[in-house]
Amino acid sequence: MSAKNKMTKKLHIKTWGCQMNVYDSGRMADVVAPLGYAATDEAEDADLLIFNTCHIREKATDKLFSELGRARDMQAERAKQGQRMIVAVAGCVAQAEGAEIQRRAPYVDMIFGPQTYHQLPEMIARVTRETGGVLNTEFPVEPKFDSLPRQTGGEIAAFLSIQEGCDKFCTFCVVPYTRGAEYSRTVASIVAEAETLVQSGAREITLLGQNVNAFHGVGADGAVWGLGRLFYRLAEIPDLKRLRYMTSHPRDMDDELIAAHRDIPQLMPFLHLPVQSGSDRILEAMNRKHTRDEYRRIIDKLRAAKSNIALSSDFIVGFPGETDEDHAATMELVRETGFAQAYSFKYSRRPGTPASAMIPQVAEAVKDARLHELQALLQTQQNAFNQNLVGQTLPVLFDGPKRGEKPGDNEQVHGRSPFAQSTFIERGDAPLHRIVGQELMVKITQARQNSLTGVLKQN
Ligand code: SAH
Ligand code: SF4
Ligand code: F3S
Repeated sequence: MSAKNKMTKKLHIKTWGCQMNVYDSGRMADVVAPLGYAATDEAEDADLLIFNTCHIREKATDKLFSELGRARDMQAERAKQGQRMIVAVAGCVAQAEGAEIQRRAPYVDMIFGPQTYHQLPEMIARVTRETGGVLNTEFPVEPKFDSLPRQTGGEIAAFLSIQEGCDKFCTFCVVPYTRGAEYSRTVASIVAEAETLVQSGAREITLLGQNVNAFHGVGADGAVWGLGRLFYRLAEIPDLKRLRYMTSHPRDMDDELIAAHRDIPQLMPFLHLPVQSGSDRILEAMNRKHTRDEYRRIIDKLRAAKSNIALSSDFIVGFPGETDEDHAATMELVRETGFAQAYSFKYSRRPGTPASAMIPQVAEAVKDARLHELQALLQTQQNAFNQNLVGQTLPVLFDGPKRGEKPGDNEQVHGRSPFAQSTFIERGDAPLHRIVGQELMVKITQARQNSLTGVLKQN
């Protein structure tokens, strides 16, 4: 194939779900780039259209099928012009409901699970060669991470997957089924990827994993390293100013990791540590493997190690059997802990998970009321946390112009505070390259629900 032809193919990936999926979408683009696929923002122009899906809650699956309907129309339109549009479904819905997608949407060319992305070139070759589709939901022997090309990067705030899968089996959750058993990369491959990212401009790296603090990778010394030890090593990389990680499980919050928060200035004072519920009875039914008091003790230890650490969490309301008292216990835990931000969801019944068969399921109206009450409290806490920063001066790592702004506009520049809030400043006379990629001191002048505004502190 000539070089010119090589550049003519277009790729569009639509991504739902967690940061792991966002990361995976980037890696899929890296894998097909050598085949000549370049990204396009317009789905209808794509020669390869990939939906990278999430199966965590029911709504996520519904969205996929409505998008697939539109994809079929686009595919038919392109066929009229004699062009082939390959439509693919990747991610957790593909893994969990591959056969169902084949049945309901037979025009989908490729269906493949999260452990098979390194086999994409082969799958594309198969659909172009043969008629009929590809269904690949294997958990292959050769680990995906070791077979993917190294991430090329270019982002100031980059993501790096270090661990995948989950062995916890919370009774509400599909992740252990869609992502498979826990797997940790080696320390050497993680450090190499982190160094490449920093060389291509990254100043912040967020380590990703479905259970990132369950990380247990083999180090250069042959010993198994935990996440804490990995942070001490990553902190040695020059120019890597900030480290973060998500998502963690309370059970794996060990002392070495807590000590890393105390010792490593690059490790940002922000932690997403989902608790799900404040009721021991419900935590037990969820198979969370921790109690409310254990969660509290972890928070106390973290705060003793890093006094300004800001906390985030996930909550599920309306888990089967949840009573008013259980819900009140969750509200109480939130009140005493104080969260800088949090996500909360109505329990969604996922086929095949133990909780889907538990009785009684909670009525939708009750779930709505509990969610409303919880979210109101969490929003008040978030607001108070943000307001409290007004007047303070914080280091902000800037990563680019505000989304949607064009050069020449009265530009606002976007960055993140240590607590991960989006923070904006007016660029003023300063050239963009003097700001982006830098960690600069910013005096916070205004706080909104989800962002901060400030001015550069002149030295
Ligand atoms: N590994 C992470 C998060 C995985 S999924 C952890 O252990 O915390 C992200 C969040 O989705 C979960 O924390 C949970 O709050 C929510 N979630 C998962 N399954 C759900 C379900 N069936 N219904 C509602 N929310 C769910
Ligand atoms: Fe799901 Fe629980 Fe595993 Fe998190 S720890 S991914 S909630 S099973
Ligand atoms: Fe969704 Fe799969 Fe992530 S179910 S939350 S995309 S691991």
